[in-house]
Amino acid sequence: MSVLEKLRIKPMEWVEDSEGPRFRWLDTRLIPWEEVYRETTDYERVARAIKEMEIRGAPAIGIAAGYGMALAAYYSNTNDVNELLAHLEKAKKVLAATRPTAYNLFWALDRVMKKAKDSLGKGVDAIIRAVVEEAKRIHEEDVRQNMEMGKIGSKLIDDGDVVLTHCNTGALATGGYGTALGVIRAAVEEGKRIRVIATETRPLLQGARLTIWELVKEGIDATLITDNMVGYVMYKGLVNKVFVGADRITLDGYVANKIGTYMIATMASRHRIPFYVVAPSSTFDLGLEGDAISIEERSPDEVRTVLGKVLITVPSINVINPAFDITPPNLVTALVTERGIITPPYRENIKRVLSR
Ligand code: MRU
Repeated sequence: MSVLEKLRIKPMEWVEDSEGPRFRWLDTRLIPWEEVYRETTDYERVARAIKEMEIRGAPAIGIAAGYGMALAAYYSNTNDVNELLAHLEKAKKVLAATRPTAYNLFWALDRVMKKAKDSLGKGVDAIIRAVVEEAKRIHEEDVRQNMEMGKIGSKLIDDGDVVLTHCNTGALATGGYGTALGVIRAAVEEGKRIRVIATETRPLLQGARLTIWELVKEGIDATLITDNMVGYVMYKGLVNKVFVGADRITLDGYVANKIGTYMIATMASRHRIPFYVVAPSSTFDLGLEGDAISIEERSPDEVRTVLGKVLITVPSINVINPAFDITPPNLVTALVTERGIITPPYRENIKRVLSR
């Protein structure tokens, strides 16, 4: 059985049967109320699923984009190599325009495109095969890397710890295991008795809806707090460690992650609580430094309402809605990657550990 077949939660899948290949994913907008899988053979539908956050979380976005390219290749309907390549370039552009912050998206698209170009001389069928195989490889690698990060990161967790986490970094945000939540899951699998405090993560409630759903499903002791309770629980000594994921990390250790992460890191530093960021190498943008990361600004209605259902303010009120913030490296105790744990100074150590 492949590592993907063994997963307990399957956030997405490449399906191949008599009806022809297609991409299937769990619509995370409906969790925890309903578990609905959607399917398509159309890469533009995959782009829409990413943009509208049916699929979300940095590694999951990258994997889905890879499968989007696989669909674009398979259903391109051409026998001409140059036409196929032009079609793939177009699909890459559409998929890249969905969300700006998660580096995994651009990393996966470049990786698949490179594979197509490397197979240029071998003809249309070989290019299609290469693109589909590369998309599947990206998915499988992500799960393996998550499991490796789980093993490495769980060494930082002690029996009896209470771990605070933010947003959703589990199976639903990745290929099916998890980054920060993967570390928590691995620690529990090793028999450590730990408890998890999850923030609700306004405005889209990834913590309350998705993280809690996963923790309950896994039988892990979980407590939900609103985002503005973090200072209180830290002041009261109710938390020992913080584990979060990342959407993009620069070469000098600036971390873009879900809005609210910077506030949690600042509070953790004030209370001398270790603050760990868990991310695979595909999240590291070594072409960027400092806080020069593009931050997605989303619809004001996400703040004016609860999940678009209940209006909670005056409809015309001005709103800002950055989906992510940036935590500077001096607030990060360590970065956990599949290649090892990276500690400061980040500028030297990120390059060194990632080149292993
Ligand atoms: O806007 P989202 O839900 O795509 O944001 C996701 C996050 O910020 C996660 O914390 C991040 O991707 C961590 S790694 C799975």
